[in-house]
Amino acid sequence: MATSVSKRLHGKTILITGASSGIGRSTAFEFARNSPKELKLILTARRIDCLREIAAEIVKEIGAGIKVLPVQLDVSNPDDVRTLVGRLPAEFKEVDVLVNNAGLVRGVAKAPEILEEDINVMFATNVNGLINMTQAILPSMLKRNNGTGAGDIINIGSIAGREPYVGGGIYCATKAAVRSFTESMRKELVSTRIRVICIDPGQVETDFSVVRFYGDKEKANAVYTGCEPLTPEDIAETIVFASGRRENVVMADTLIFPNHQASATIMHRNFT
Ligand SMILES: NC(=O)c1ccc[n+]([C@@H]2O[C@H](COP(=O)([O-])OP(=O)(O)OC[C@H]3O[C@@H](n4cnc5c(N)ncnc54)[C@H](OP(=O)(O)O)[C@@H]3O)[C@@H](O)[C@H]2O)c1
Repeated sequence: MATSVSKRLHGKTILITGASSGIGRSTAFEFARNSPKELKLILTARRIDCLREIAAEIVKEIGAGIKVLPVQLDVSNPDDVRTLVGRLPAEFKEVDVLVNNAGLVRGVAKAPEILEEDINVMFATNVNGLINMTQAILPSMLKRNNGTGAGDIINIGSIAGREPYVGGGIYCATKAAVRSFTESMRKELVSTRIRVICIDPGQVETDFSVVRFYGDKEKANAVYTGCEPLTPEDIAETIVFASGRRENVVMADTLIFPNHQASATIMHRNFT
């Protein structure tokens, strides 16, 4: 029997940025599992080979009701983003749900030792990339419903956007910018039926820390020592839950911690 969520998602076109790994990858599977009869997924990231593998896995698991389109996209490259909709096949052009998930952290340096390249990459990806993606997709959402608009913009923020911490000056600033842009946009779009949703995860075990430590897996693993972090599936479930609500329900703001976490830096670690 179809659930309310599967009925509401039926036939929708979902675009996920950063779908090659972690939360984005799990979100692709979660949407597919919740609406197996008819769904179109556009999976984007820089690593196209990973996206192709994920697309094949989804179709194998869920079946032919799901159409999956892997698209190589660097959100930090404004030209790539600007030309994206033009490059999509006609049947994928009308995006109903945009999940702005692509993002990264680089390093734990403190001012004045933060590398200029890291500053630029984090802002270009987490802030400019998310804003450019939104501006690329929003025009078609606004035209729907006889001009009243329809669609979901789901931005992945972070506890870091609410609570700056030592060694996270740039990452925290980018996520605060995401939060601020999201709230402005919700106010700007209040007369439309477009839902602007923000989901702020706490600690999630993905490749996030590996990227932070420039590929050093030992340092990345140490972040989770004694803790039980969230899984990417935990966040994916929340994203799909938000998108699967009745059209008049907006999960505007959501902060999700694992049980041992109480703030950006307060973690209970169990070493027994
Ligand atoms: N893990 C956590 O503890 C945590 C907590 C709070 C918030 N978040 C947020 O959750 C989101 C997903 O992170 P994750 O934890 O799932 O990390 P992840 O496993 O490292 O995944 C990051 C994704 O972003 C993509 N990406 C990075 N730069 C990109 C670019 N320039 N263009 C397109 N895609 C790009 C990566 O794909 P390619 O490398 O293939 O491009 C990858 O698919 C991020 O916005 C992150 O800030 C994570």
